[in-house]
Amino acid sequence: MKTVGLFFGSETGNTENAASMIAAELGDGNVEVYNIADCDASSLASYDNIILGCSTWGFGELQSDWENFLPGFDSVDLTGKTVALFGLGDQVNYADVFLDAMGTICEKVRERGGSVIGAWPTDGYEFTGSTALEGSNFVGLAIDTDNQDDMTPGRVSEWVSMISGQLQ
Ligand SMILES: Cc1cc2nc3c(=O)[nH]c(=O)nc-3n(C[C@H](O)[C@H](O)[C@H](O)COP(=O)(O)O)c2cc1C
Repeated sequence: MKTVGLFFGSETGNTENAASMIAAELGDGNVEVYNIADCDASSLASYDNIILGCSTWGFGELQSDWENFLPGFDSVDLTGKTVALFGLGDQVNYADVFLDAMGTICEKVRERGGSVIGAWPTDGYEFTGSTALEGSNFVGLAIDTDNQDDMTPGRVSEWVSMISGQLQ
């Protein structure tokens, strides 16, 4: 498997923790992890396998570092790249806009030619609306550390084994 570039933005550390868990599951030599506060979108060009992690803030908005990072995608060609997404949100207090940032990022990745893998079933979540929804699946791994923290390790482990076979 080619090296994975994992890029995350995190306000209070939850997405950062999830990124570390995902990286550990992939195995140390297989992944390079970036906090997007410290790089720009041109770094994506170095990888054919990309994982993007974002929490949702405000009311369905991107995490603040993503507000700066995502516009840079307009200068990066993601054609031929395999992209998996993971999002963090709160399905209880933000049920109408659960994980919307993951939906926003997915749309931009596809617009730039990236192939999105890693759809995740909605079973076990209770929410009323999400732009990260496609049919009966989320477009990527859904993590809710506010309400279902105990389920995070199992979800991460299952999702990483699922996407591993699809990475280049
Ligand atoms: C002020 C505030 C706004 C939030 N807005 C949303 C939201 O619109 N949708 C959602 O799914 N989660 C929302 N959340 C939940 C966060 O996304 C969640 O706590 C996440 O784990 C934070 O991850 P981070 O620490 O990596 O940024 C919000 C949380 C706070 C405190």
